[in-house]
Amino acid sequence: MKGLILSGGKGTRLRPITHTRAKQLLPVANKPILFYGLEAMAKAGITDVGIVVGDTREEIQAAVGDGSAFGVKVTYVHQKEPLGLAHAIKVSRPYLEEDPFVMYLGDNLIRDGIRTYVDEFRSDTGHCHILLAKVQTPQEFGVAELEDGRVTRLVEKPMEPKSDLALVGVYMFNNDIHDAIDHIKPSARNELEITDAIQYLVDQGDEVRSKIINGWWKDTGKLEDILEANRVILSGLKGKIEAEIGEDTRVEGPVSIGKGTRVWNSVLRGPLIIGGDCRIEEAFIGPFTSIHNGAEIRNSEIQHSIILENSSIVDIGSRIESSLVGKNSEIRTASGPPKSMRFMIGDYSRIEVC
Ligand code: TTP
Repeated sequence: MKGLILSGGKGTRLRPITHTRAKQLLPVANKPILFYGLEAMAKAGITDVGIVVGDTREEIQAAVGDGSAFGVKVTYVHQKEPLGLAHAIKVSRPYLEEDPFVMYLGDNLIRDGIRTYVDEFRSDTGHCHILLAKVQTPQEFGVAELEDGRVTRLVEKPMEPKSDLALVGVYMFNNDIHDAIDHIKPSARNELEITDAIQYLVDQGDEVRSKIINGWWKDTGKLEDILEANRVILSGLKGKIEAEIGEDTRVEGPVSIGKGTRVWNSVLRGPLIIGGDCRIEEAFIGPFTSIHNGAEIRNSEIQHSIILENSSIVDIGSRIESSLVGKNSEIRTASGPPKSMRFMIGDYSRIEVC
């Protein structure tokens, strides 16, 4: 059995961060989201993994390499344009051949992995399997309708959802899916929708089996979702401090700090993770915060946030929370009058001042 991780796409909902980085490489608890997917594949015993890549191909290739760091062998499949999840399978056909496969959306995080679902599919590759989860806003997802446990209808982002069961970003297919994809047409948003391809299978009389997952799962397509993923993953953190911490610093709860980081006169209230070579001074770093390598936090307070590489937050009078700060960014209080705000921000940025 093969694996297929989708890591192309546009990432419009995460602009401006996705102008300069693949969304699948955004770190959750200082580890790229995509790595959780690769680890889940390896743990499920899938060692032959294709990664669908688009414009951010080079960056993803540089981060993942040949996959040996994860115990898998990676083959890259180039999708020239993100024309839908089913289109991504279509362009992967030469890689997939006639093998059954597990498709995993590269921006999804399934805390407890996929091993049990893959094992069930292994003993039942005669049918397509989908994973479902109850959600509060089904209109934002692909939604499945069931009758006596059998999938009868799938709709992509329905205006009036008839069920609250969303498709989780993991699907298991045999080679019937290729014929289904050959029979569907692009949707109104000009994408080959995987929901239409699975609906084709249902309409042909194929039994599509579903499993409702109980554990935590997140599609990290939006800022709020990435922050929630960061919170959930940090909740399981076991602290490890490899840094120099002054006696004037108080550490509470699970805290991880990488090599080369220096901390003075601060309060670190876990769970939180700080990478290597950071400088933390006169700061309060609160729970559920991930600070990436080379960042500087001075005379400021921050919690429930993700700060990317080499960014600095200096002399900020009020607490920063629920924020995602891109790499090499600077947030600081300007000195001297007049009391005003000054910004240099990229396209599609979002700043909320209270
Ligand atoms: P989406 O989040 O549905 O799409 P997107 O990445 O274009 O984001 P946005 O809606 O914010 O513009 O994609 C889910 C995953 O599948 C994600 O990892 C990107 C990947 N993908 C592809 O690889 N090829 C595609 O054609 C599409 C649509 C998505």
